[in-house]
Amino acid sequence: MRALTYDGPYRVKVRNKPEPRIEHPQDGIVRVTAAAICGSDLHLLHGLVPDTRIGFTFGHEFTGVVEELGPGAQGVQKGDRVMLPFQIFCGGCYYCTRGLTSCCESTNPATDAATGIYGYSHTMGGYDGGQAEYVRVPFIGVDAEKIPADVEDLDALPMTDAFATGYQAAEMAGIEEGETVLVLGCGPVGLFSMWSAWVMGAGRVIAVDHVDYRLEFARKWLGVETLNFKDADLVTAVKGMTDDRGADATIEAVGCEAAGSPVHRALGVYMKLEAGSPQALNFAIHATKKGGTISMIGGYGPPYNAVDIGTFMNKAQRINTGQASVKRYMPRLLEHVQAGRIRPQQVFTHRLPLDRAPEGYHTFAQKRDGCIKVALLPNGSATLH
Ligand SMILES: NC(=O)c1ccc[n+]([C@@H]2O[C@H](COP(=O)([O-])OP(=O)(O)OC[C@H]3O[C@@H](n4cnc5c(N)ncnc54)[C@H](O)[C@@H]3O)[C@@H](O)[C@H]2O)c1
Ligand SMILES: [Zn+2]
Ligand SMILES: [Zn+2]
Repeated sequence: MRALTYDGPYRVKVRNKPEPRIEHPQDGIVRVTAAAICGSDLHLLHGLVPDTRIGFTFGHEFTGVVEELGPGAQGVQKGDRVMLPFQIFCGGCYYCTRGLTSCCESTNPATDAATGIYGYSHTMGGYDGGQAEYVRVPFIGVDAEKIPADVEDLDALPMTDAFATGYQAAEMAGIEEGETVLVLGCGPVGLFSMWSAWVMGAGRVIAVDHVDYRLEFARKWLGVETLNFKDADLVTAVKGMTDDRGADATIEAVGCEAAGSPVHRALGVYMKLEAGSPQALNFAIHATKKGGTISMIGGYGPPYNAVDIGTFMNKAQRINTGQASVKRYMPRLLEHVQAGRIRPQQVFTHRLPLDRAPEGYHTFAQKRDGCIKVALLPNGSATLH
């Protein structure tokens, strides 16, 4: 089959690989109809995730059709259109039974640090991902969510990660009616969290980025106020808009490659003397009011230097964080889509055949050509609208 593979930092290609096979009774094989590139894939591309191996296939956001089922797989049938949450979970362990599927303790037992995630390095279990024609889906009967007939694949696709993640980010911000919510990052996760913040009662949403076309996209699509931190000191600007106190809640949707601090970029992203740049988190601590909430949804790996933890403590703030437990949000997100409140596929500024995935990666990574998010369509995929 054709599959995207990692070829070392900053390099991916599409090549032939053996098709996956059923390995456990509860496995299924899914023929991928669409796969997205996530901001988290950029951390892999840039060599920031430990134990990312050459030849490994990325892709943790995908929809498909069930092709084959192991003898113990129940709950789905061959031919079902399905969407798969980005993390792999068993449904029956201590954490899964408490709704924390993103902390499942069965799918990456080698470490307590992370649960199994498709296409996300051997640190996250070494499961090949969905930027391919076929993918092995462990616990398919538990993990897969059927896509209703009236929902298009490309509207379902962001529900497997970006949309559900943005929704959980807004929930973790603990928004009270009328509050001011600051969202750092106008990538897909930030955008979906802005939409969710409105749904959850925000009175004001202020979006931050340093890429103008992304700020414009946020303004036009979601009617938010915007701030470019290249043009003004971010913290001063936010305070100026909020009676000198800061936002009631801040959603940090940037993660470990944050711009805004040349020192952190040099030390972390380029010299690898720390595990990336925690600058967005520092922005969040300084731009949120005392007693306010930070929802940290951006992706981080190993430890960081110079996080302003003292200011955080003295301002009596709280941080809510985690990988999104996607599955529990899917029914609610489907309801919003079926009611016509949002068309998630509007984030896909780029729809490319799988064979052009490397071009998709570079366009998305370098924030070129107005790119917000890329959908990859394997040959023969019907999802071309
Ligand atoms: N916790 C989870 O479950 C989960 C799930 C999906 C993605 N993520 C993470 O969310 C983050 C965002 O994902 P995405 O797909 O939207 O990525 P993206 O790369 O498209 O978006 C990040 C945006 O942040 C902007 N940015 C950079 N530095 C900034 C700063 N200091 N302040 C404000 N904005 C800044 C960038 O210009 C970019 O537009 C990534 O770190 C990803 O790993 C987490
Ligand atoms: Zn992701
Ligand atoms: Zn589990």
